Amino acid sequence: MKPSTFGDEIGLHVAIIMDGNGRWAQARGLPRSAGHRVGATAVRRVIEAAPACGITTLTLFAFSSDNWKRPGPEVQVLFRLFERYLRTETASCVEKGIRLEIIGRRDRLSARVRHAMEVAEQATAAGTTLRLRLAIDYSSRDALVQAASHGPRSRAQLEEMLGAESGAACRTRDVDLLIRTGGEQRLSDFLLWESAYAELYFTPVAWPDFESGALADAVAEFHRRQRRFGGLVLETRSAVAS
Ligand code: FPP
Repeated sequence: MKPSTFGDEIGLHVAIIMDGNGRWAQARGLPRSAGHRVGATAVRRVIEAAPACGITTLTLFAFSSDNWKRPGPEVQVLFRLFERYLRTETASCVEKGIRLEIIGRRDRLSARVRHAMEVAEQATAAGTTLRLRLAIDYSSRDALVQAASHGPRSRAQLEEMLGAESGAACRTRDVDLLIRTGGEQRLSDFLLWESAYAELYFTPVAWPDFESGALADAVAEFHRRQRRFGGLVLETRSAVAS
């Protein structure tokens, strides 16, 4: 299948809460950090598989603003992984036409991490196959409060501001499909505005075990759902009219 470019926004926006790393590791007698390391390989797999699934925007929840409550060593492992990922994957993103963006606060991150983010964003800015957004130190409520503080007068303006607040290069985009791995069924302050009409897909599979086939299954389930956006389906509408 020829992937559509994200400039025209024809493809899907899929957002993923990558949950279950810690439990995956603990179930194997490993430290939680091992789950995050293996989770990074699942990130690569999913990014690789996304364009063939018709996904043109992929937003991954890598670190929530509430994750600062975790023990320091776990937070350090995560940020080392993010930095390494940004440094080692940028060339491959350029080659594959992936535009990388980081959404979330940057003021609490180290200069090293911020620098790695800026370099990756600049190097991949011309990508048109997949817009890959990593949410790091991200809180949807905080982003909404910040956007609202500029006094938007319309939904469109709020969406412009949400995009700008979260550090993205464009207006924020509605989520079509929101996937959460790891068995929990909640949104955890992720893309609350953008997911107003998202189809929700929860799977018990832990993130490190999430294979490209699992992404294709989730997208296939999305296509089986009937999206009505508060309206009626055609058959029902004619039944009501008659
Ligand atoms: C949630 O699992 C996962 C995270 C808080 C971190 C997500 C990070 C990665 C997948 C690592 C690599 C990411 C990139 C972008 C390179 P959890 O620790 O809450 O798992 P648990 O619910 O089983 O404890």
